Amino acid sequence: MNYRRIASLKTAEDFLAYAGKLGVTLPFDHEMVVGTGEFLDEPFFLGEQKIGNRFSILPMEGWDAETGGSPSELTLRRWQRFGDSGAKLIWGGEAVAVEHAGRANPNQLWLHDKNVSSFVTLREELLAAHQKAMGTTDDLLVGLQLTHSGRFARPNTKSVLEPQVLYRHPLLEKNDDEPYLLTDEDLQRIVRSFVHSAALAAEAGFQFVDVKHCHGYLGHETLSSFDRPGKYGGSFENRTRFLREIVAGIRERVPGMTIGVRLSAVDWVPFRPGDQGVGRPCEFDGDTYRYAFGGDGSGLGIDLAEPLRLLDLFKQLDIRLVCISVGSPYYNPHFQRPAIFPPSDGYQPPEDPLIGVARQIDLVQQLKRERPELIYVGSGYSYLQEWLPHVAQAAVREGAVDFVGLGRMVLSYPEMPADVLAGRPLGMKKICRTFSDCTTAPRKGLVSGCFPLDDYYKQMPEHKDLKAYKAEFRKTLGS
Ligand SMILES: Cc1cc2nc3c(=O)[nH]c(=O)nc-3n(C[C@H](O)[C@H](O)[C@H](O)COP(=O)(O)O)c2cc1C
Ligand code: SF4
Repeated sequence: MNYRRIASLKTAEDFLAYAGKLGVTLPFDHEMVVGTGEFLDEPFFLGEQKIGNRFSILPMEGWDAETGGSPSELTLRRWQRFGDSGAKLIWGGEAVAVEHAGRANPNQLWLHDKNVSSFVTLREELLAAHQKAMGTTDDLLVGLQLTHSGRFARPNTKSVLEPQVLYRHPLLEKNDDEPYLLTDEDLQRIVRSFVHSAALAAEAGFQFVDVKHCHGYLGHETLSSFDRPGKYGGSFENRTRFLREIVAGIRERVPGMTIGVRLSAVDWVPFRPGDQGVGRPCEFDGDTYRYAFGGDGSGLGIDLAEPLRLLDLFKQLDIRLVCISVGSPYYNPHFQRPAIFPPSDGYQPPEDPLIGVARQIDLVQQLKRERPELIYVGSGYSYLQEWLPHVAQAAVREGAVDFVGLGRMVLSYPEMPADVLAGRPLGMKKICRTFSDCTTAPRKGLVSGCFPLDDYYKQMPEHKDLKAYKAEFRKTLGS
């Protein structure tokens, strides 16, 4: 495993030559176009709503909300920085639980009847920061991501998993695990919780809700629920019933609300550290791996037949906004958030992370080509680092994506979109180098943030603990 760091690729030629050596083709513009209202700066119209440019902020949770579910000072700061970024599409802010039992950790945001006003404040803080940075919020679209963490729920204690699953998974569970198998009645209750949360999100002023279907959480798991008996398992119709019921409920209760879906459009088997800590796919019994939505049954290959069928269903349900992600940060993180340094529950990358970036860009391009009526937000660009603007502009110019989503980059360098659009030089010291501390910290029960590059987090006492964990982890991976 000897991948070149992006920071060592000093010119566009070096970068492209290295990508070429890996067999990776990426859209790439040598010259950035500024001030003409084209490409990244071209507005997009969702009906009457103008979205002022083609940058989107991806949902980024901080494990830092109050235990009652309301935002804390740290949450507010992060959302202000989302507003500062200049991006005109805020895709969901971060995962917000629709029920206490569905929280991914006791400090995940949770929207309920008693704390709607704190979400009004959260949105308004973002708007105020955006107004200050960009002069207007008229062309800003802000949504809220609604979720239930299902298999990965830890609602009461950070270290205690309280999984609620649709089916028993041979690789994500140990033999003596006894996860709670959700009944059809439970799922109907959760559907009602999504609908209720969407109504509360509307009350708090959010312009759309994302009915989250990615990353191994409950919505995503419904799509691979082949082995479940009853009305939520087996056929495509049954595996999408959860989504259809939520959408029908929202349409009835909050008729004007726009609905989007963040989707892990494809998935693979879980990976674990192998020789020298390098990730390798888990072995499974039998000929077919049945639990990867969008997989070809081998556990490692892709088959877009079902994802495309799902996009057709979105069209029927009048869902136009789609944010495409892949896999899961829990069991195959190198696909989902390509990084040179693994998170503490991960493994050394089994492929150059640039290959992972190109896979996500290519996937969105294919889906958009096949189903051009939908509006696509892409993910996984942060690893491109200083070359991100060049790839982003070309991807939009070539029609490979409608909005370029930024995740980790926004934690370390929130103003990147504003700088790019204004033609200012990049703040090189703020560029995310994919150290993965923002993933490792919460895995260790700490708040998430960019500890290496954001001074605010750098100075926190927790930073020392994080460094100690990382040193320990490096030893286990032998690096
Ligand atoms: C600290 C952290 C928190 C995240 N929280 C969420 C979340 O709440 N909801 C979600 O859909 N994705 C979440 N993600 C995934 C990101 O939205 C994004 O898909 C991923 O980081 C890859 O994009 P990037 O390369 O720009 O970082 C999170 C990622 C990180 C690193
Ligand atoms: S901790 Fe900072 S530099 Fe590291 S991956 Fe997260 S945002 Fe990027």
